[in-house]
Amino acid sequence: MEEFIAAIQESIENNWFVKITLSKSSPKSADLRNIYVRRVDLKGLVHLSFTYHYNNKDIVKNYKLDNAIDKIHQYLGKDFLVGTLLTTEQDVVLQFNKKRKTRIQYRKPSVRNVPDTSHNKNKNYLIEENCLFLDKLGIASDGKVLKSHQDKYRQINKYIEIIEGLLSQVTTIDNLKIIDMGSGKGYLTFALYEYLSKKHKKNPNIVGIELREHLTDFCNKQAKDLGWNTLSFEAKDIINYDNNEIHVLIALHACDIATDIAIAKGIQANAEIIITAPCCHKQIRKEIKKDNMLKSILKNGILEERQAEIITDGIRALLLEAYGYKTKVFEFISLEHTAKNLMITAVKNKNTDAVIQKRLLKEVQNLKERFGIGEHYLERLLKT
Ligand SMILES: C[S@@+](CC[C@H](N)C(=O)[O-])C[C@H]1O[C@@H](n2cnc3c(N)ncnc32)[C@H](O)[C@@H]1O
Repeated sequence: MEEFIAAIQESIENNWFVKITLSKSSPKSADLRNIYVRRVDLKGLVHLSFTYHYNNKDIVKNYKLDNAIDKIHQYLGKDFLVGTLLTTEQDVVLQFNKKRKTRIQYRKPSVRNVPDTSHNKNKNYLIEENCLFLDKLGIASDGKVLKSHQDKYRQINKYIEIIEGLLSQVTTIDNLKIIDMGSGKGYLTFALYEYLSKKHKKNPNIVGIELREHLTDFCNKQAKDLGWNTLSFEAKDIINYDNNEIHVLIALHACDIATDIAIAKGIQANAEIIITAPCCHKQIRKEIKKDNMLKSILKNGILEERQAEIITDGIRALLLEAYGYKTKVFEFISLEHTAKNLMITAVKNKNTDAVIQKRLLKEVQNLKERFGIGEHYLERLLKT
């Protein structure tokens, strides 16, 4: 172990360091599969950035060098049985066997160049900085993302990555109709159009629905200027959207019950994919009886709020499953970039199974009874 750590320090001092991978996780590390470590220079100081790869999420944390070395010490041999250090001079592999005995190997370098160590390096983003729409929407200026919009830019790219993965499961790819409910300033709507039109060399049909007319006016003008004639925005309440041709439904950060309305519209239109990132959870918070079984730990407002979030989104996921969707709930971006980072994605199964539906609806009923909830808004919408 000491040799491995010394090799890391030497490679950093000499600027040979490329990356470290901690792999072969022990059963104790649950769904954490591996950790990638790269160098980042923050405010002129060397840091190591750890990307923790879980089964369905990635979490990034940056540590000062000393702390990072301590972490590697702590994880290796306990949580991970193999550490691989790549440098431009040599590759070093440290392995632990089941009895925790070590073996270290030095190999010829597999990488010849040191990667960029700047914090915000462009990591092969699917939406490149110099896309014209980013300038038009005020996220970039002259092809460079503004400092104040770096988080938004990262978020947009993460969404596109997720959506790209889901779209591979869509059967309708020609004339794909995508509805973005609560499109706001249209950041994601434009990004999706940019991405799909470049990737598939066909113009997708995307409509943003947004309450605030000045935003739809602004977005329509930018779409027109860009010559994107199958991207449009309508100023209306999503509850009044009644066109049932929806292949993909998106609702990101749509406030409170707007997320429920969007999900219901998607289910009713038989959309192939539904993607939501819920926002505030007022409806259920007001409904939950204060005197429920968790009352002794819910004296703190923040815990009560979290409880409302978990129940609201948990029931949303169950209802989506009941209506024939394969559903996932996960954190889509590190909390350092946004506080609202839960995402629910749903892909339509071929058939809705009546027995499963009955069981899931019963589960929803039980949950509501246990927490003294009269109704979940999505359930009401699905009954109408
Ligand atoms: C927090 S913003 C999110 C914008 C965008 N989806 C994003 O993630 O960047 C939520 C938007 O939803 C809009 N909105 C909320 N309720 C709505 C409704 N019932 N119908 C249409 N738009 C709604 C708001 O006006 C606001 O612009």
